[in-house]
Amino acid sequence: MKILVTSALPYVNNDLHLGHMIGSVLPADVFARYARLCNHDVLYICGNDEYGTATEISALKEHITPKELCDKYHKIHKKVIKWFEISTDRFGRTTNKEHISTVQEIFLALYKKGYVVEKEIEQPIDMDTGIALADRYIEGTCPYCGYEYARGDQCENCGKLLTPQELINPKSKISGKPPIFKSNKHLFLDLPALQDKINDWQKERIQSWNHVAASITQNWMKEPLKLRDITRNIKWGVPVPLEKYKDLVIYVWFDAPIGYISITKMHTEKWKEWWMPENDNDVKYYQFMGKDNVPFHSVIFPGMLLGDGRQWKTVDVIHAMEYLNYEGKKFSKSKGTGIFCTQAMEYPYPADYWRFYLFLVAPDKSDTNFKWDEFVERVNKELIDNTGNLVRRLSTMVNRFGKVKPDKDENIIKEIDDFVDEYKKEMDNLNFRKALTLTLDLSAKVNAYFQSSAPWTKLKTNTDECNKIFYTIGYAVQRIATMLYPFTPKISEKIVKEFGMKLGFDDVGGFEVTDVNFMLKKMGQHVEKGIILRVGKIIKIEKNPNAEKLYVETVDIGNKNVTIVSGLVDYYSKEELLGKKIILVENLKPAKLRGVKSEGMLLAAEAGDTVEVLEPDAEVGDKILLQHDTNKDIITIDDLLSHKWEVKDNKVYFDDKELIIGGKPVKTKKVKNGVVR
Ligand code: MF3
Ligand code: ZN
Repeated sequence: MKILVTSALPYVNNDLHLGHMIGSVLPADVFARYARLCNHDVLYICGNDEYGTATEISALKEHITPKELCDKYHKIHKKVIKWFEISTDRFGRTTNKEHISTVQEIFLALYKKGYVVEKEIEQPIDMDTGIALADRYIEGTCPYCGYEYARGDQCENCGKLLTPQELINPKSKISGKPPIFKSNKHLFLDLPALQDKINDWQKERIQSWNHVAASITQNWMKEPLKLRDITRNIKWGVPVPLEKYKDLVIYVWFDAPIGYISITKMHTEKWKEWWMPENDNDVKYYQFMGKDNVPFHSVIFPGMLLGDGRQWKTVDVIHAMEYLNYEGKKFSKSKGTGIFCTQAMEYPYPADYWRFYLFLVAPDKSDTNFKWDEFVERVNKELIDNTGNLVRRLSTMVNRFGKVKPDKDENIIKEIDDFVDEYKKEMDNLNFRKALTLTLDLSAKVNAYFQSSAPWTKLKTNTDECNKIFYTIGYAVQRIATMLYPFTPKISEKIVKEFGMKLGFDDVGGFEVTDVNFMLKKMGQHVEKGIILRVGKIIKIEKNPNAEKLYVETVDIGNKNVTIVSGLVDYYSKEELLGKKIILVENLKPAKLRGVKSEGMLLAAEAGDTVEVLEPDAEVGDKILLQHDTNKDIITIDDLLSHKWEVKDNKVYFDDKELIIGGKPVKTKKVKNGVVR
């Protein structure tokens, strides 16, 4: 059978983090690998989602063209995908050369059938760039609760849904200026007209979707479907192929899923075998995604293909994940929370360890947490002690014993096969965590069998019996390696190589060990220690009553206020400092300065007589961690000054690396070249 697998195409301008990996890419990879083990004809397609407002805005910020931005980040995504052993048959991009024509074709088919309709709407436009702003790119005061940073789609503070027109003092997030509201003609996908087709289609398939995907879809379908706008007035997108609307491009959520098709076209001339099979049953199509992507895949994209009317393959099984958090908090780039994939790649641990642990805590039913301590413990115990040692013990003994001939201990083999059957059932139903745990249970069972059958007592006296025990354990080890393969592909390959075996569910022949090689390195305790810098804001300031040159400042650092003492009296007035954003060294050993306790220190640049407080272009609470391999959680001034701190051409460097906080480099105004203290 043909199995088509896709995972949601990550936005090219997003930094991939572990939540993205376990949300869509990893489960898709595990399933694709499993399907290949079962000898199916598998095609796994993924790639970057590159068009749209977000890319256009990121490019503006980085002062490069959208194309350059996409090229830059696509390269990084590709590296991540490769490092994590994601076995895509193609990791493409939606700016591929088949994409525009494929999208326009589907668009026109829908248009001709009357499923695309025109409507006039009022939209906020950024004054400086002329970009039409998505609601979330507008910020202003909430009319309900008075929160100052409410977004145009929703107030984060009181939770009310908003429109940009309702905000008091609305401002564009791009230019910081008030938006101009302008009326514009736009095109809409007529979902109400497609409602019946979508309902019938869903009814046939929804039973086989996982709980997250099915329940989100059912929620969506409770209310009648509404018109959905599918055009934007930006430049970076697929042009609407109609003269009358030539200033508009197609909305990114319309074009992106068509990327699955266009990337397949780039991959193989036989793309129709996958996307327009003669019989729908010739291909079984599985889609993997995070929960926020569900309605696009379970309602809108199928609706588009059904409305187009050609023999498109639509998805059979949808698998969605909830969110993975990091030590109880949401992943956030600017707050320095979470592990981003490029960071994970810098640790001395192979991809398999990350993959293994991520599946043990996969958020397949509810949100879950990545916890460092648990990561270390479970890899060490469940992967290395349990399975790794089984393999090593067998390998050492068989190395002494010699060739092992096929001869099964039938009772045990039957038990092993039952585990395998159970595993397959779970994998077929996409219950990956369950399947992985079963594998570990089997491994524990075989360890117990090893112990109780004590082959080492029979090495000389009863070689036949010994052979039988070794064969049985070897058989189990081959099955365990195979079952682990979707999760830890490199380790599995090493295991079977040790015994000259092959992966798969076929018969296991005789084996021997020619050289004992297999070893898994244990993980060390994780220490995330070093210099912690945190963005704060001076909310109160007075002179130190006991010292002429010292101020005492109260600094808001997001989750609390701290008091610091600094010698800035000669350089700044109180008024100048009040309200300033500063960079605080948060984990500095508290010190009493002339009777007042200072709980940290702010960073300032210095050149001769000039002293300039560093002002980050970041949000209060944003954090970075410098140099994460010391083992101190509290540092001293000496620790701090043992590093190289420098200002060169108005940029700040820490140990020759540009200092970046909240995603943006720290820059000075007055001090062009100097030091930081
Ligand atoms: N780019 C979207 C995200 O990262 C996912 C797009 S999935 C696709 O959330 F099917 F539209 F490509
Ligand atoms: Zn509010």
